[in-house]
Amino acid sequence: MSAEEAAAQPQQQKEEQEEEKRDAAPEPRAQPAAAAATEEEEAAASASASASYRCLVLTGHGGYDKVKLQVKKGPPAPKKGEVLVRVRACGLNFADLLARQGLYDRLPSPPVTPGMEGSGVVEALGEEVSDRKVGDKVIVLTRYGMWQELVAVPASHTFLMPEGMSFEEAASIPVNYITAYMMLFDFGNLRPHHSVLIHMAAGGVGIAATQLCKTVEDVTVFGTASATKHDVIKEGGVTHAIDYRSRDYADEVRKISPKGLDIILDPLGGSDTQKAFNLLKPMGKVITYGAANVLTGPKKNLLAMAKTWYNQFSINALSLMHSNKAVCGFHLGHLDGETELVSQVVVQLLELYAQGKIKPRVDSTYHFEEVGDAMRRMQERHNIGKVILLPEPKKEEPKKEEPKKEEKEEEPKKDEAKKEEN
Ligand SMILES: NC(=O)c1ccc[n+]([C@@H]2O[C@H](COP(=O)([O-])OP(=O)(O)OC[C@H]3O[C@@H](n4cnc5c(N)ncnc54)[C@H](OP(=O)(O)O)[C@@H]3O)[C@@H](O)[C@H]2O)c1
Repeated sequence: MSAEEAAAQPQQQKEEQEEEKRDAAPEPRAQPAAAAATEEEEAAASASASASYRCLVLTGHGGYDKVKLQVKKGPPAPKKGEVLVRVRACGLNFADLLARQGLYDRLPSPPVTPGMEGSGVVEALGEEVSDRKVGDKVIVLTRYGMWQELVAVPASHTFLMPEGMSFEEAASIPVNYITAYMMLFDFGNLRPHHSVLIHMAAGGVGIAATQLCKTVEDVTVFGTASATKHDVIKEGGVTHAIDYRSRDYADEVRKISPKGLDIILDPLGGSDTQKAFNLLKPMGKVITYGAANVLTGPKKNLLAMAKTWYNQFSINALSLMHSNKAVCGFHLGHLDGETELVSQVVVQLLELYAQGKIKPRVDSTYHFEEVGDAMRRMQERHNIGKVILLPEPKKEEPKKEEPKKEEKEEEPKKDEAKKEEN
């Protein structure tokens, strides 16, 4: 079930999900207790307790202005099994746009700090943490709460950053690459000579999926994206780039591959899932993992939601059997209790990074105070790759002083002096 569709669920089911959320994986916290053993530690704890840290808070559902920059006092202290991370970069995901409109069921009600991924430096350890040390550079995956300067997260949700990886790249890895990897290899069973359709091919998941396809011999990638992005995605490995905004992508695919495709990744939902199913070859698989069709602007569009919900794909078991096709659903947010499963994927991804086979493409970086611009960039379909948020305050550009009148007049004299020297 997609996040957006959850918005249209009956109330009782929603309440059950809320229960489930509360019982699920640990969440980052903001106001913990400090336990200092020695005098020195006590002094450090009291200094840090008075310190403040910046965070982004979703204050209500609606437009860009609902995410506000706030300053909190008393940084989180890590509990047993947790580490305190000074965050250096965080990922913006499509789900964050949905969450702002109240369309993402894995984020609790406002006020809440969003953010599912990031990178930073371990600043303190909770009890019983033996595999991390202060100063470690880490990648973090969590359910929400990463959009803050300091965050306490379970050590098991952190992964050591490999040599040479930037904080921006590290923050681009978890959501996009885990999603792409599990869909292609675990559900898709991607093999040599397969053909794959990747929608939103210039976006975060799209670029990750394209790179992963290229790790397998002779995979043909069909990628949909706005026309201005085609050169970049072709350079990145897309074999056939399709402008879905000016033509029917299914017709375009059929012109090139009349028998259809082996794997289709469907982040759109609604009628596009049916279209994907029809485009599959026998033994083909569609993996549905989003409902981007519900998002038409900065504010909730009830008509688009109803249309997407009404056109949802549905099939009975007998028809499915006769079709020789598979329909899979993937949602990383609902795998948050599966730490070991997800960690194994991250290990594979970091190995591929070390071998130079995958490399996140950072589209742009925005400081926390510019979060509205960052969201607008993705919403208005301008990004090619990952949009990153930086907790550190934006430095004021030093104003260029106008040269004084006398200095202006002196300049020719300097040139004359140079000429004289020659
Ligand atoms: N289930 C999961 O676990 C999971 C995890 C991660 C992501 N996702 C899903 O994967 C999809 C991609 O996510 P992402 O974070 O990588 O984002 P992204 O692809 O970087 O998203 C932005 C791009 O999507 C394209 N787009 C297509 N329909 C759009 C719409 N209605 N509104 C705005 N942009 C639209 C635009 O590019 P073009 O115009 O060039 O197409 C835009 O530049 C989303 O549907 C997301 O919900 C699911």
